[in-house]
Amino acid sequence: MTSLPAAGTVLFPSGEEQPTLALGTCGYGADPSAHAAEVATLRQALDMGWRGFDTAEMYADGGAEAVLGLALEQAFRAGLAREAVWVVSKVLPEHAFEAGVIAACEQSLRRLRLDCIDLYLLHWPSPTPLAETVRGFEQLQRRGRIRHWGVSNFDLPQLRELLAVPGGSACAANQVHYSLGARGVEFDLLPAQRVHQMPLLAYSPLDQGELADHPALRDMAARHRATPAQIALAWLLRQPGVMALPKAGSALHLRHNWAAQGLSAALQQDDLAWLDRHFPPPARKLPLSVR
Ligand SMILES: NC(=O)c1ccc[n+]([C@@H]2O[C@H](COP(=O)([O-])OP(=O)(O)OC[C@H]3O[C@@H](n4cnc5c(N)ncnc54)[C@H](OP(=O)(O)O)[C@@H]3O)[C@@H](O)[C@H]2O)c1
Repeated sequence: MTSLPAAGTVLFPSGEEQPTLALGTCGYGADPSAHAAEVATLRQALDMGWRGFDTAEMYADGGAEAVLGLALEQAFRAGLAREAVWVVSKVLPEHAFEAGVIAACEQSLRRLRLDCIDLYLLHWPSPTPLAETVRGFEQLQRRGRIRHWGVSNFDLPQLRELLAVPGGSACAANQVHYSLGARGVEFDLLPAQRVHQMPLLAYSPLDQGELADHPALRDMAARHRATPAQIALAWLLRQPGVMALPKAGSALHLRHNWAAQGLSAALQQDDLAWLDRHFPPPARKLPLSVR
């Protein structure tokens, strides 16, 4: 029998559960004069209860990893346990050869000030054969430098190809664009990932801020004394096997997004039907949305 995850968590193939809400960091770390303020914002996130963080070597050329690393180091010094936090980072496709994956991960670990990354993803498909990238991930696991590995921006044919290479079935997650405004993955990718008990990590869950100002969400938001962004997140947080990764750069947005977890259970069948009418699920296969 497949076990069900606790409310508000997603279940990974290893049996590990993680919260369905984690913080995106794309946009952090770009401006050195803003680093101190960004570290302070990330410390506020940790104080509010955010425990999952999504970053990448690509974001601000390592700048996002660096500010996240500083914030985490401060929080650990203040008594937060390393095991309480879950950090995802990503390797660029141009580094996806075996030695390149290992070198890129070492650089990310240095910037993050960590000994180990919890989940390390291939950022998008690479011309390097998948079997070679998997060998790099396996080496990193053996060295204790990553706990789990996965992929990002893989549609179903690419995922099937990965699952067929030696070691490929150990893939722990696929991170793709999924939101009320981009529901294409519901046609086949999300159901297939559910069969494999492989969480779908939903990036750009607010369509990069567009849903926060979407006219169709304003009325429902007013009825729930919420914001459009909270409705969009609350809807996503109801989807089994999905983790949402909204980026927020202010304490206000962090608080609002955190509170969307409480709103998720308050959405009624008529709310969901109304959302389906305004943001219809896919009736056929659509190209994978990429932001
Ligand atoms: N794997 C990939 O290829 C890939 C691609 C894209 C993104 N990602 C990951 O997914 C994360 C999220 O995606 P994203 O950054 O593209 O877009 P997003 O999370 O959909 O939207 C972020 C935008 O929404 C605004 N926002 C956040 N909370 C809000 C709220 N409560 N009310 C109003 N506006 C709000 C943010 O403004 P403020 O910044 O002012 O708060 C920002 O402009 C990224 O940070 C990254 O970690 C991965």
